[in-house]
Amino acid sequence: MAEHLTVGRVAELAGVSVRTLHHYDEIGLLEPSTRTAAGHRAYSADDVERLREVLAYRRLGFGLREIADLVDDPTTDAVAHLCRLRGLLMDQRDRAAAMVTAIDRELEARARGIRTTPEEQLRVFGAQLYDAIGADYPATRRTEPRIAARIWDALGDARTVLNIGAGTGSYEPPDRDVTAVEPSAVMRALRPPGAAPCVAAAAQSLPFEDQSFDAAMAVSTVHHWPDPVAGLREMRRVARRVVVFTYDADDTGWRQRFWLTRDYLPEFADLLVGWPSLADLANAIGGRAEPVLVPWDCVDGFFEAYWRRPEAYLDEHVRRAVSVWARVGPQAEQRAVSRLREDLSSGRWAERNRDLVALDTAELGLRLLVA
Ligand SMILES: C[S@@+](CC[C@H](N)C(=O)[O-])C[C@H]1O[C@@H](n2cnc3c(N)ncnc32)[C@H](O)[C@@H]1O
Repeated sequence: MAEHLTVGRVAELAGVSVRTLHHYDEIGLLEPSTRTAAGHRAYSADDVERLREVLAYRRLGFGLREIADLVDDPTTDAVAHLCRLRGLLMDQRDRAAAMVTAIDRELEARARGIRTTPEEQLRVFGAQLYDAIGADYPATRRTEPRIAARIWDALGDARTVLNIGAGTGSYEPPDRDVTAVEPSAVMRALRPPGAAPCVAAAAQSLPFEDQSFDAAMAVSTVHHWPDPVAGLREMRRVARRVVVFTYDADDTGWRQRFWLTRDYLPEFADLLVGWPSLADLANAIGGRAEPVLVPWDCVDGFFEAYWRRPEAYLDEHVRRAVSVWARVGPQAEQRAVSRLREDLSSGRWAERNRDLVALDTAELGLRLLVA
């Protein structure tokens, strides 16, 4: 019995009541595999694993019947449950970040005496992260020609190209037949006139036949997908060649080298918890990873772009076009920005980062995956 836990201990560890566990037993959702000599419920490691799944789905808002179907599905093992739960939780976190951003905007508007319309007030509930932050995207997120050249080169001789998480189309090659996929209505609306046709869909479920494109590309988007590995497999399914611009979340070295995450925004590390390794991402498409250095004057204002231009991070427009700031939340953002402002004016930043001035490019974990 050593490896079994009592009902009281399981309840205490899981933060639920004993009554809840009795109820799960009574309805057959979680029947402890054995009883003690005195007839008390005793939970094995497998029972605990099942309870973890039940409670996680419960917290995500699933009903007990739905949960029973999910956890009894013989085709889904513990790893598949964890991957699915992780994706659902990421999605929930992104939606919460989108709501916080929308609420902050409304508070700001109210403080200036502006009332939001009923449509604007309701939109917050259907918010996708990029529906909340997308409007600021085009101001600073432009095509960086040196990165575009790498991506277009990796596309090889592909004539038909699917661009997933296409946004405003920054990296769409002008000389090929491009179809874009973009789930955010705001981002779709921001695509310039004459941009490639855009389908409202998401990476994890692409509405295309197997092998229907010469190549599929995804730029700065995989970290937004609820299930990156499933999305990459979808890319592989619909295209013969796959090109992905992403970053190596395992490599803590670059996070330590990048002063913004090291000295001002340690919360960035929390965003990467549970993120698939670069090897997992590469394996999903059967490809190889190549480093992409960030030029000091990078034109695309992504998170790492201003590594040699620290003042840029003080600019609200620069931050609003980067999802990291919405994801860490306003408190962490304000703290990071005010510390950076102080260090720039006291000369402390310059002193600490003296060596950067001599560099033209920086290795900050960005990678091109090619298959
Ligand atoms: C940082 S933007 C990148 C846009 C564009 N690829 C670029 O490089 O400018 C990330 C994009 O991914 C999109 N996105 C978010 N979740 C997605 C999903 N599940 N499938 C496909 N795209 C998604 C967002 O709506 C957003 O437009």
